[in-house]
Amino acid sequence: MDIRVERTSLPKAKPDWDNLSFGRYYTDHMFVADYTEGSGWHDLRVVPYAPISLDPAAMVLHYAMEVFEGLKAYAAKDGRVLLFRPMENARRLNSSATRICMPDFPENDFLEALKVFVRTEQDWIPRQADTSLYLRPVMIANEPHIGVRVSRQFQMFIIASPVGAYYPEGLNPVRIYLEDEYIRAVRGGTGFTKCGGNYASSLIAQKKAEKLGFTQVLWLDGVEKKYIEEVGTMNVMFMIGDEVITPELGGSILPGVTRSSVMELLRSWNVKVSERRISIDELYSAARSGDLRESFGTGTAAVISPIGAFSINGELLCVGDGGIGPLSRKLYDTLTGIQWGSLPDPFGWTCEVPL
Ligand code: COI
Repeated sequence: MDIRVERTSLPKAKPDWDNLSFGRYYTDHMFVADYTEGSGWHDLRVVPYAPISLDPAAMVLHYAMEVFEGLKAYAAKDGRVLLFRPMENARRLNSSATRICMPDFPENDFLEALKVFVRTEQDWIPRQADTSLYLRPVMIANEPHIGVRVSRQFQMFIIASPVGAYYPEGLNPVRIYLEDEYIRAVRGGTGFTKCGGNYASSLIAQKKAEKLGFTQVLWLDGVEKKYIEEVGTMNVMFMIGDEVITPELGGSILPGVTRSSVMELLRSWNVKVSERRISIDELYSAARSGDLRESFGTGTAAVISPIGAFSINGELLCVGDGGIGPLSRKLYDTLTGIQWGSLPDPFGWTCEVPL
């Protein structure tokens, strides 16, 4: 499909590249496409960044019919601009959309849209260490209709934000609070999707954790409240003895692109990786006995986020010596090295944007 590009006549001032933090600045343009039942996706365009117009009866505003993605564009030292496994995002967007009864966005058009959009915004890709251009594709149901049914009209847009570290801690270990009151997801629900509703319902626990001095929450399964699922906005991994354990996907956990990349990297280094259920009791015992050597969250926004301590039932349990573990450091360096094009990419994960 053709993508029309309309450039802004009023480019914004660029931010202070050394103080980006996460999600504070937005670029000059956005990608937009519309969907109408019967005609499919049409009018693919890159246009000046501007508020979108929505009828107050638009279904997304009433019934949260929204799904999104997150990925990054990286500026390599040799001048190339790279995306990381964008087809994984294309596939996951469609898997989320199917669950919320929204249409597929063709995967090849998704990739083409990213390339055209990122090429238009190339001056917004930060060059500083550990910075990137975060891309946020979003699909919404914008048909004006307040009866509860599947929408017949949708909009897809992609915005971009130059970002630094997601957490103010950067690579320094975060402290995590075990949430035992609220739950994030149950099997059969929407936990495996990136739909806005998952994040809205998680905020109350995040607020509680922050008030108690923690960065994020550790979510338990919604049935027995016994097995570990995720950490806040990330998947989670534990190194117990010589084994790295991550909760198995089962419908309630987000299938993270960073999660699967980390597992592939670990296996290529002959580290034993298990996707299996891990109970809070197992974590507690491992932390008490000193077998819990490392733990970290994985996510596009946060990359690898070492966890220094867990608060479990009022007890603060340290992970290893509370610092950045050697495996977390190696994973961060390798993954970011591949993403920024400074290390070889034996897995073929990076995808160059033609400039
Ligand atoms: C990501 O890691 O890209 C996310 O989507 C997490 C969060 C910023 C919502």
